[in-house]
Amino acid sequence: MCGICGYFGAEAVKKVCDGLKILEYRGYDSCGLAYVGDGKINSIKTLDGVDELIKKSEGLSTEMVIGHTRWATHGAVTLNNAHPHFSASKKLVMVHNGIVENFKELKKNIDIDFYSATDTEVFVNLIEKESGSLIEKVISASKKVKGAFAIIVLSERGEVVLGKRETPLYLSTGEKGVCVSSDVLALDGEKIYALGDDEFASIENSKILFFNKNGKKIVKKCEKIEKNMNFSQISFKTHMESEIFETKTALIKTLKKYKNEDIFSLIKLPKNFKSVVLVACGTAYHSSLVGAEFFKSIGIDARAYVASEFRYGREILSEDTLYIFVSQSGETADTIASAKLVRARKLCTLALTNTPNCLLNRVCKSVLPTFAGREVAVASTKAYCCQVFSLYLFSAYLAGKRLPTVQTLKKIPLLEFPREQVEDIAKFEKVFFVGRELDHLTALEASLKLKEISYINSVAIASGELKHGTLALVDETSIVVAISTEKRVKEKLRSNLEEIKARGGKIIVLSCFDDFADYDLVKIEKFADFLMPIVSIIPLQFLALRVAEQRGFNPDRPRNLAKSVTVE
Ligand code: AGP
Ligand code: GLU
Repeated sequence: MCGICGYFGAEAVKKVCDGLKILEYRGYDSCGLAYVGDGKINSIKTLDGVDELIKKSEGLSTEMVIGHTRWATHGAVTLNNAHPHFSASKKLVMVHNGIVENFKELKKNIDIDFYSATDTEVFVNLIEKESGSLIEKVISASKKVKGAFAIIVLSERGEVVLGKRETPLYLSTGEKGVCVSSDVLALDGEKIYALGDDEFASIENSKILFFNKNGKKIVKKCEKIEKNMNFSQISFKTHMESEIFETKTALIKTLKKYKNEDIFSLIKLPKNFKSVVLVACGTAYHSSLVGAEFFKSIGIDARAYVASEFRYGREILSEDTLYIFVSQSGETADTIASAKLVRARKLCTLALTNTPNCLLNRVCKSVLPTFAGREVAVASTKAYCCQVFSLYLFSAYLAGKRLPTVQTLKKIPLLEFPREQVEDIAKFEKVFFVGRELDHLTALEASLKLKEISYINSVAIASGELKHGTLALVDETSIVVAISTEKRVKEKLRSNLEEIKARGGKIIVLSCFDDFADYDLVKIEKFADFLMPIVSIIPLQFLALRVAEQRGFNPDRPRNLAKSVTVE
């Protein structure tokens, strides 16, 4: 799920570096650029981020540059594996987002010494082996490649060819030249073209020619693509912190939009609408779990699935079901594949996304946007709250309930987890998050947040389930964070906590009830039930953030992860 970018025209180095800076959310294992100069291709690569690449390329002036920021899928995080990748003759160089699934098979038939462990190097050499013009070579090599890709190929002679399958690629033309990028946000130029699957383009002297998979020229219209998605204002030390503080504004914006623009009435519902299936990954899966509970509470049968499992089609699909695909980025490969599977059966699909013009919106029949603004930190915070909120609002709309008021949202506290408890938790290597019903779902999200950015081994479990196995892990080296906002099960949770206490486990309770005053209690305010998953996750997001800081990690850039997971 790398980010690729190219610029062909004046100030190309700066344009590509600016683009890569924006694309770093797609991966930051390494980055690099290649350019044509003195009749040959040169490259600059680094493992230290785009800022370092900018320093290394200072003073460089050329009009043909391709760049890449990597999230490694094939081959370790090394300079050798960093893109751009050269063909054996060094006459071609390529940046690539995607996976060549049959790279081992293809590699066997290419008799050269490979310098990297990447599938990309196989792909660029496959292109080199084909015959014809560069565009012909790229198209015929792509036919042999299994898997998703977005590529830009540059030749020593200054030819440029690009193409894509399943992962995004956009072009724009401006006064100074042509820009190519994985994301519209990184484009420079007003007229924007979105490449379709198995479509290709060549760029010569700022002229773009488009081709289909058979090499036939096609005409593409430029699209109006919304680019003005607010960046999260980095008014705090990190994006994550700024984004948590933006939660309330995001919720209010989402509510106002839904009230003023009548967005729900545009959603296509199935005939004889009976049930809802939600499909998503990671944090979006957790908001889907909460959303499923909202639908059930109004009498609509609902289930949530992890997209990487759902996409392989074991589930029975049905015409009376609305399939909701939840994704902040709208670019997550597994979620998109799941939506395509359902769409192919001509069933009702709805994209709940935070990114205008994302791929998922194009795949689904209807779109329900959230208005969280751009989320940059890898750990999703404000977008999660907006997803939960949107799913509630949609369920309320279906049930004919009155929507909440802006006044109510204004009262939601952005509560920090107390410093003393943060310091306590940061010392443990094992943290358990427990709760019942909706609190169990909040526990799942809190646990993901903590492990994702602080690397503490954390487990979330329905507290009643503890004694069926996981309790064996609890001892004086572990700490348990219990969440209690569900009135009807609070006594049951209490009994579970007593069981933990009896085994020497340290306990902190996050609750809106005074009943837990004899524990180390972090008190939160009581709001309407549907808001409690939001009210309670905010201090737990802060907890993860502060623990990461305490342990000296950058919460915006967790190891091994990237913001957008565009590969399977
Ligand atoms: C969130 O903190 C995670 N980084 C991750 O689980 C994320 O929610 C998941 O990859 C799904 O992303 P999406 O919402 O963009 O589809
Ligand atoms: N497969 C390529 C690599 O490992 C690109 C990875 C990606 O797009 O995520 O370098």
